[in-house]
Amino acid sequence: MPIFNFNVNNQAVTVDAPADMALLWVLRDKLGITGPKYGCGVDACKACTCLVNGRAVTTCSITVDSVQGKRVTTIEGLASGDTLHPVQQAWLDFDVPQCGFCQAGQIMAAVDLLRRTRRPTDAQIDAIENVCRCATYGRIRAAIKQAAENMS
Ligand code: FES
Ligand code: FES
Repeated sequence: MPIFNFNVNNQAVTVDAPADMALLWVLRDKLGITGPKYGCGVDACKACTCLVNGRAVTTCSITVDSVQGKRVTTIEGLASGDTLHPVQQAWLDFDVPQCGFCQAGQIMAAVDLLRRTRRPTDAQIDAIENVCRCATYGRIRAAIKQAAENMS
């Protein structure tokens, strides 16, 4: 099988995998990184969202060969040591998760939004397409606004 070299959460990794293997399964099954979740596999639920070179992507819908030489960040790599990312902290402060299944993807999408938009409007926050079957959307919106304030 081909070998791919890329960076995950600030660590260089080398993976032996079929070129068309979804990045989600490489992360979960080959690298043991289980923060990104499988919900649909067809780029609909967004539970598998991670950052690739700083941009949110659904890892079920891209293949491992597409991240050769790139920088992948999962929820596991968001904090700096013991210091949570401001978005993670806001999520705690607003007690956002219910079952938690979608939450890693929600947080990664929020990080991407705040990288692009320092003060997102309600409409911009609501444009995040990550699905939450527990309907935590109100608290997600509040937490993103708090994180935006804390990051300004
Ligand atoms: S599992 Fe990737 S979008 Fe649903
Ligand atoms: S917290 Fe349960 S799916 Fe979002």
